[in-house]
Amino acid sequence: MLRPPVRLPPVLRRAASTAGPGRRLLLSTPIFYANGPPHIGHLYSALLADALHRHRGLRGAGPGRLSTGTDEHGLKIQQAAVAAGTSPPELCARISALFHRAFTQAAISFTDFIRTSEPRHCQAVCHFWAALQEHGALYKGTYEGWYCTAEEGFLPESQLVERVDAQGRPCKVSAESGHEVHWTKEENYMFKLSAFQDPLLKWLRDNPRAISPDPFYQRVLCWLGEDLPDLSVSRERSRLQWGIPVPSDSTQTIYVWVDALVNYLSVLGYPETHGEWWPAAHHVVGKDILKFHAVYWPALLMAAGLSPPERILVHSHWTVRGQKMSKSLGNVIDPFACNERYTVDGFRYFLLRQGVPDRDCDYYDEKVVKVVNSELADALGGLLNRSTAPGINPSNTYPCFSETCFPKVVDYREAEALGRAAAEDYEFVVSVASLPLQVASYFEDFQIYKALECISLCVRQTNGFFQRHRPWKLDRKDPAEKLWLDTIIHVTLECLRVYGTLLQPVIPHTADKLLSRLAVEPGEREISSLTFLPRYNGKPCPFEGRQLGPDTGILFHRLESSRQHQIENKRL
Ligand code: MSP
Repeated sequence: MLRPPVRLPPVLRRAASTAGPGRRLLLSTPIFYANGPPHIGHLYSALLADALHRHRGLRGAGPGRLSTGTDEHGLKIQQAAVAAGTSPPELCARISALFHRAFTQAAISFTDFIRTSEPRHCQAVCHFWAALQEHGALYKGTYEGWYCTAEEGFLPESQLVERVDAQGRPCKVSAESGHEVHWTKEENYMFKLSAFQDPLLKWLRDNPRAISPDPFYQRVLCWLGEDLPDLSVSRERSRLQWGIPVPSDSTQTIYVWVDALVNYLSVLGYPETHGEWWPAAHHVVGKDILKFHAVYWPALLMAAGLSPPERILVHSHWTVRGQKMSKSLGNVIDPFACNERYTVDGFRYFLLRQGVPDRDCDYYDEKVVKVVNSELADALGGLLNRSTAPGINPSNTYPCFSETCFPKVVDYREAEALGRAAAEDYEFVVSVASLPLQVASYFEDFQIYKALECISLCVRQTNGFFQRHRPWKLDRKDPAEKLWLDTIIHVTLECLRVYGTLLQPVIPHTADKLLSRLAVEPGEREISSLTFLPRYNGKPCPFEGRQLGPDTGILFHRLESSRQHQIENKRL
């Protein structure tokens, strides 16, 4: 059987249909409640958005922004401040600074960090409210129902279960979060959500990629197939003082979720400059806040005369040794401690490699150590170490590729008769050549873990290639052997250059170290212009003959294993 000709794509095409050059995009994380310190679930939301933002930037897909911040109003924060014996502004300033520090430390490349207590945001919310009112989307009515402060939302009976409270009295709790609900009856402003059932369905049917992964899209379609009652969008000021007053009615405070969702517009300068960006927005959110983003937010936007966001990218939750992460269980994992124990890149790699948006994922120390050691320290670091070792590459250069040793062939079976490369070498080189496009398409589909899986597989194949040909056995003094030895190293360094370039959005520090060692200049690190093994296609390779960068030591130090590391027991 004749195999297809072995062809390597010379330059990565701009991959995504939605990512033409010059196209603007706002990527956002949720804004985080300022009632407690960050944990790894929060970090995961931010990391997903960061990796997408960085990948897009390296693909030259157009101007991008990445927003994050803290959600500071509402009953939850008001009560947390009382419990902490402080005032809401003081609590928010302290917790917000913690999130800012955690994200800065984790190399989240945010371009805007918004706090909902900032005047620019309050002005945007008031303007948004006025737009809702102008369009006749609000009315005043009496609302009664079960309110869950932890979730900051009213819940229907179907989402409640009976429990007993700490004093042994019967109570009702949210089936999803386990938090107690309280019967609330108030005069509130109501939003005509029910009027948006059909427009929402149409929006989703017309935009099957609006919510990813698909099970979450289906879940939202299901919700929209059921009754969609109007939504209470204010609280009596006497009960909730910590929030933005309803313009022209100081007896009411704007519902914290309406307040919070508008952050995506405030960061774009709403109501003045948002039009330059909106609706080119992709919101990364956890599954617990899907309804707010996929039902309430698009409906509110439509009611205010704006379009829904382009995409909502949903992820599931991290559990810890199979258990839900919670303060009461004392198993909340602190990102600062994780960055220290596993390094920033090590932990970023773990969360993005093991986090599967469609389903909950489990965190435990041994797993992080195993993944990071085997894939970053051993496979990737080992490959760099072996291929740049002075014994193998004494001149410390990017050696030449020999077309005689690795000739271009049409049929793999001819390979060995013509040169030194074997059929499996051609197969492996083809998989590395297709990697940039594959990775771009997985990023586009919000499957970063799959992109990392493919890269990891290629790293393993490259180690196999290197091992198979035992370059350390080749005699550099023999001209024919030297050609082949140099070719093996050239191919390996080319692979490493591709991996380093593609890994920049995930492990920026390690990728920088790797690319610097390979003497890849800052202007040569764009994914959009990434070529692989141009010499195989008879094109010049700008790296050939170049002096390698300085050896700054081991690429990634192995992590020490420990049976039960103390960070899992550390109470926050
Ligand atoms: N303030 C709201 C969001 C408003 S956005 C307009 C909120 N804040 S939160 O702090 O509770 O959660 C923020 C994000 O963290 C959500 O995407 C949520 O899904 C995520 N996570 C919280 N716990 C999580 C895990 N255990 N695992 C992964 N992510 C989780 O909701």
